[in-house]
Amino acid sequence: MSARLVVLVSGSGTNLQALLDACADPAYGAEVVAVGADRPGIEALERAERAGVPTFVVGVKDFATRDAWDAALAGEVAAHRPDVVVLAGFMKLVGESFLAAHGGRVVNTHPALSPAFPGMHGPADALAYGVKVTGCTLFVVDAGVDTGAIVAQSAVPVEDDDTVETLHERIKAAERAMLIEAVGRMAREGFTLDGRRVRLGR
Ligand code: GAR
Repeated sequence: MSARLVVLVSGSGTNLQALLDACADPAYGAEVVAVGADRPGIEALERAERAGVPTFVVGVKDFATRDAWDAALAGEVAAHRPDVVVLAGFMKLVGESFLAAHGGRVVNTHPALSPAFPGMHGPADALAYGVKVTGCTLFVVDAGVDTGAIVAQSAVPVEDDDTVETLHERIKAAERAMLIEAVGRMAREGFTLDGRRVRLGR
């Protein structure tokens, strides 16, 4: 039986598209059962609709408090009974209710090599710092900002004439490959957490 993925998005959804494409092959071992967003009108939701995947939007501004938003998001995700929740360019931090409901099976992809450059501007921060190598990280979400146990990483070079955009595009190509490989293995083989160390497979 394939693993049920719920994917949360906020933007263009190229990582989501890579997952949708991978899931088209039954041998991949996973299916995207729903796509959720924190805002309407984004390309990622159109990608889900084109693929015939149900979508939902839970916007922060529609709730009196951040906690109420977080609990509502947790509930929408739970309704789809996910085995793994993938944050793929989801530009909000999930909170206590969300982690109480789903913690341990939520992964996030971040466009930097953790623990370097956490936060919203990984590619820009790496470029400004002047590192020669950066990349992407898939991690198990915890209560911190991009601090969770690392599932997979992939490195890319920083070129002398890079802009934030060219660097982010290079990272995103590596990120899609990393995401597909790691989520597929999580779906097919499972994973265990030993402190900060994640082991794919049994
Ligand atoms: C990805 O590079 C992802 O790592 C990043 O946003 C991009 C989303 O692209 N996420 C973060 O920076 C989260 N802090 P996509 O919408 O095309 O998949």
